[in-house]
Amino acid sequence: MDTQIKVCIEVADKATSRIIYGYMASHPEFSIITTYPYYADIYIVEIGNDFGKALMDLRNYLEVNPALEIFVISGEASQSRILEFVNAGARGYFLLPLSANKFEASIDVFIKRFKKDRSRNDMPCRVVSFLGAKGGVGTTSICVNTALLLQRSDKNTLLMDLHQPLGDAHVILDMTPVHSIGYLVREVHRLDTSLLTNVTSKHRSGLSVLPPISHHNEIPLASIEAMSSILEVARGYYQYIVIDHGAGLTEIDIALLNSSDYIMIVVQADVQSLRNAKLLMKFLSDYNETFPSKIHFIVNRYDTNSKLTLDDVSKFVGVDVFHTIPNDYKRVSSCCQNGSLLYEDHAEAKITKAFHDMVGKLTSTHPPLSAMQTPKQGNFLSKLFGKG
Ligand SMILES: Nc1ncnc2c1ncn2[C@@H]1O[C@H](COP(=O)(O)OP(=O)(O)O)[C@@H](O)[C@H]1O
Ligand SMILES: [Mg+2]
Repeated sequence: MDTQIKVCIEVADKATSRIIYGYMASHPEFSIITTYPYYADIYIVEIGNDFGKALMDLRNYLEVNPALEIFVISGEASQSRILEFVNAGARGYFLLPLSANKFEASIDVFIKRFKKDRSRNDMPCRVVSFLGAKGGVGTTSICVNTALLLQRSDKNTLLMDLHQPLGDAHVILDMTPVHSIGYLVREVHRLDTSLLTNVTSKHRSGLSVLPPISHHNEIPLASIEAMSSILEVARGYYQYIVIDHGAGLTEIDIALLNSSDYIMIVVQADVQSLRNAKLLMKFLSDYNETFPSKIHFIVNRYDTNSKLTLDDVSKFVGVDVFHTIPNDYKRVSSCCQNGSLLYEDHAEAKITKAFHDMVGKLTSTHPPLSAMQTPKQGNFLSKLFGKG
């Protein structure tokens, strides 16, 4: 991965140029690019009197590259003008004549943050994938609550929605994100932690959310390589990545299951979802012999008067049930409708406790960290991984 900080400079004032280029020359981590600011990490621009155009340019650059850090240099000192630029997304605003000290101090802060973002997290990242045995079993509700509780326990967590184009995790969280995974697959050639973290949306809990691809043009760009790159970059920054796969299994889902530490199959205690769960279990075990050790079954909407007992469920699917979540339509659906959170508004409810217990089990068991694992020979994905 590119470790240099790409900087684009458009400055006319001679004294200002000397300060900026002098600073860059003494900091080898910067590489100056002479193309467009779209491709830079940092853009330092002196603006003249056409403030309208300068603002429009700035918005355009940020639209294309939300991770771009823009520092504006101008002779215009009016508060309202400065605010306009800051509100449009400029990271810093320097007055002419440029003070070398102020400039250096601001860029030093930027470098520190940038390096922190890029440096791989010392904490190993765990990827928890949720797969529904069929639509409507509660996969998204469980993903959302798991991710929220992980984030709440101070684990820097990303919720990634692969259920394209219908994924609704962000809707349950009452968020209206600007970007989605689609943005990242379009810009995958320059993907790094700062782009990733700028594209993800932050829920008020601190949880980062990546909504699914929603535009058909982006689907062909979401190759296994592109999606795996996104996961790998995210692994370097987050402590937990929770993935909502929905109820389908595309090649991309399977590739990301390969990199997952836990594969959580969500079922309900009904014949159809158990039949599907059994097929899934067989399919995944045939695909990769390491999968069974990662697979955990969650029975959602389970209560003791369900027709099938937990014993029936485990006998049918061939493995023990990892956890059950009780049926509580009133609370779950009220959270979906108004963006409230189980752990905040229904802290004492049985269902909230069940989620806490499940997350407790997840964080206290430590399977070996998952690297990209090799599928069995002859499998339809094997050639993509260069085997078989
Ligand atoms: N434990 C639960 N108790 C009651 N209702 C639930 C529970 N989990 C999910 N639901 C409801 O089931 C429906 C489907 O849930 P959702 O999470 O969207 O499922 P999926 O992602 O599998 O399609 C929603 O109306 C949701 O409110
Ligand atoms: Mg769903």
